[in-house]
Amino acid sequence: MQQIVLSGIRSTGNLHLGNYFGAIKSFVRMQHEYNCYFFVADWHSLTTHPHPGDLHANVKSVLSEYLACGIDPEVCTLYVQSDIPEIAEMYLLMNMNAYIGELERTTTFKEKIRKQPDNVNAGLLTYPVLMATDILIHKANKVPVGKDQEQNIEMARRFGKRFNQIYGTDYFPEPEGFTYAKNLVKIPGLDGSGKMGKSEGNAINLADDAKTIHQKVMKAVTDAGPTEMNQTPPEVIENLFKLMEVASTPETVAFYREQYAKCQIRYGDLKKQLSADIIQFTAPIRERILEIQSDDAYLAKVVSMGAEKARISASATLIDVREIIGFRKF
Ligand code: TYM
Repeated sequence: MQQIVLSGIRSTGNLHLGNYFGAIKSFVRMQHEYNCYFFVADWHSLTTHPHPGDLHANVKSVLSEYLACGIDPEVCTLYVQSDIPEIAEMYLLMNMNAYIGELERTTTFKEKIRKQPDNVNAGLLTYPVLMATDILIHKANKVPVGKDQEQNIEMARRFGKRFNQIYGTDYFPEPEGFTYAKNLVKIPGLDGSGKMGKSEGNAINLADDAKTIHQKVMKAVTDAGPTEMNQTPPEVIENLFKLMEVASTPETVAFYREQYAKCQIRYGDLKKQLSADIIQFTAPIRERILEIQSDDAYLAKVVSMGAEKARISASATLIDVREIIGFRKF
């Protein structure tokens, strides 16, 4: 059976290292191995009420950044979510089989209530239903995502299975989170807390210039340093090592880990090294982002080609789903 891959990124700001190492790095490889659908999740971005003046610019940024990272629109299907009206209809249908209780219990919803208590909209509550729809509408088997999306993939699996059960069919396959690494990846932020995120203010963006990256890394939270030989680093320091593990060579990581173990570490040196390695990695991507962003004709071609391809698959699924649910033509 042909394996179908799907994943998306919210257009809420620029792409950061967490997005790259958690997701896009896998996309770039997977596009040559599977039938891949990648998209800009602009409907999902509405949960935070973006200013109308920013909405299009954000979509354009994320799209250019996808392309700059090496997503090839000729090889995979790259589209903008809101260009596919079939998703909206299927979202309506899927909402009928999603229960308030299970939606209220999702970690991401609880987090959002904490972070934006003045804007707990219904779109936030049904966010996992829209995400499940994104996945199920192409009958995807594999969903390359970071660790933070694990529960959402679990929900997509549940909604697909429930649909199959209700209608006595095996129509939807069970999607699973995917990465080439051993486990789904979580890239930490620079502030010593959990994960790097667009809204956390702790991210290094792929489009950041060298000076910005250097300033951000040099400001990363550290502690007073190790006091005992071979002690386990606390989370703030382990986070810096984790960033090094994705941006630097294994030898560099081993060197600084050893310095730490021997209580000889100088955080200033570690940060300089880390910032230099991140800059070396992001500089060519940044250059391509700027080039692509100034080519509106190319971007227009990419999105129209993507929408055309994505709608073929989405409308075929929607026709089947309507039929399975019992809608008939007069
Ligand atoms: P979003 O836009 O928050 O993140 C996009 C992708 O980047 C990954 N990611 C990370 N991975 C590791 N460490 C981090 N610090 C980190 N930060 C972000 C995310 O896991 C994700 O893979 N709801 C989704 C978008 C979406 C989607 C979908 C994804 C909508 N529909 C269907 C997959 C399938 C989101 O907001 O991701």
